[in-house]
Amino acid sequence: MSEQNTQSPVEIRKGLAGVVVDTTAISSVNPETNSLLYRGYPVQELAAKCSFEEVAYLLWNGELPGDDELEAFEALERAQRALAPNVRAAIDGIPTSAHPMDVLRTAVSVIGADDPEGEFGALADPFEVVYPKALHLMAQLPAIVAYDQRRRHGLPLVEPRDDLDYASNFLHMTFGEVPDDVVVDAFRVSLVLYAEHSFNASTFTARVIASTLSDVYSAITGAIGALKGPLHGGANEAVMVEFDEIGTADKAEQWLDDALASKRKIMGFGHRVYKNGDSRVPTMRASLGALVEHYDRPEVLELYTALEQAMDARKGIKPNLDYPSGPAYNLMGFDTETFTPLFAAARVTGWTAHVIEQLSANALIRPLSVYGGPAERHLS
Ligand code: COA
Repeated sequence: MSEQNTQSPVEIRKGLAGVVVDTTAISSVNPETNSLLYRGYPVQELAAKCSFEEVAYLLWNGELPGDDELEAFEALERAQRALAPNVRAAIDGIPTSAHPMDVLRTAVSVIGADDPEGEFGALADPFEVVYPKALHLMAQLPAIVAYDQRRRHGLPLVEPRDDLDYASNFLHMTFGEVPDDVVVDAFRVSLVLYAEHSFNASTFTARVIASTLSDVYSAITGAIGALKGPLHGGANEAVMVEFDEIGTADKAEQWLDDALASKRKIMGFGHRVYKNGDSRVPTMRASLGALVEHYDRPEVLELYTALEQAMDARKGIKPNLDYPSGPAYNLMGFDTETFTPLFAAARVTGWTAHVIEQLSANALIRPLSVYGGPAERHLS
């Protein structure tokens, strides 16, 4: 099929909607049964019973770890949590007017520039090459996100603690203390739910970059760039902006009518794959409920419910995971602009699992287009 053919009968699927580009064994999103499985396990069960470390191990290795495997995995992750001086210096060099996603993208780039074995290499075993780098990134991202939030408040860096699990240490490095169990648990649940979601835009970006045999850090910086957009990961931040704009539950309906009248997209609602509700929402909604109770902030849930009901009544469009996670992160004390970096810190596990999978049966990703510009012409 020629790219020059303007008369092509080919059906163009804008946004690749409905296009199947490859197989994956990492996760399956099933809108018919409203389920999401990581390596076959329902995400709700993983969120109820597993640490984020166990889920990361599962995504990369295909099986949950045994006790010894988990111990070794946790030891490796905990040993790599501290920010290297040059990464910290690079972050310090970025003005606080920059979005935290820009800081994260830059910091990952700096980590990549430090890694002499950054290239995949045509003959290397993808798992052997990528796995240690993936684990390193998993361990480093909390340090970057936490330090960036702190420096914006004029607060000093908090060193990691190797006696804490991943979720507790992340909160410790951000806030200087480990909050109550209910908060740690809600945070852990959000990380598990955000870890993986098949061929979404940022994961596909990572796979495209990996498919060129570029390096894993390039794949992840590209994925971070894709995640930043409000139609994708940036929605959890945008939900909070909307909540602030609306103010109180009694204003939700009028606000929604005005927003829809001006053709605004309502952030935190709708999904490319799920058309009848996001399978992850009930689990995160329950965690949000626990946080609301813990912090005694019933007005948050009132506004949440008012907007959700109004959107259902007006458009029949249901919330996606970003809808409950936005206010949940707000209650935990994260800055609104830090919400999408939190998503990235979790999703780096899924992204890197996909990089390994892509490289294990690689084909350069290079689709076609139908040319629609001027007919051939010549310089006179
Ligand atoms: N607010 C208002 N209208 C919405 C909407 C939203 N959040 N989501 C979908 N719609 C509308 C679309 O504009 C479209 O209307 P039209 O038929 O009049 O053009 C209709 O609902 C069907 O849209 P659909 O084809 O299901 O959406 P999509 O697959 O192209 O887009 C999203 C999916 C996620 C990009 C879209 O729902 C969206 O922009 N949501 C807000 C951002 C967000 O929360 N992103 C996080 C996703 S996890």
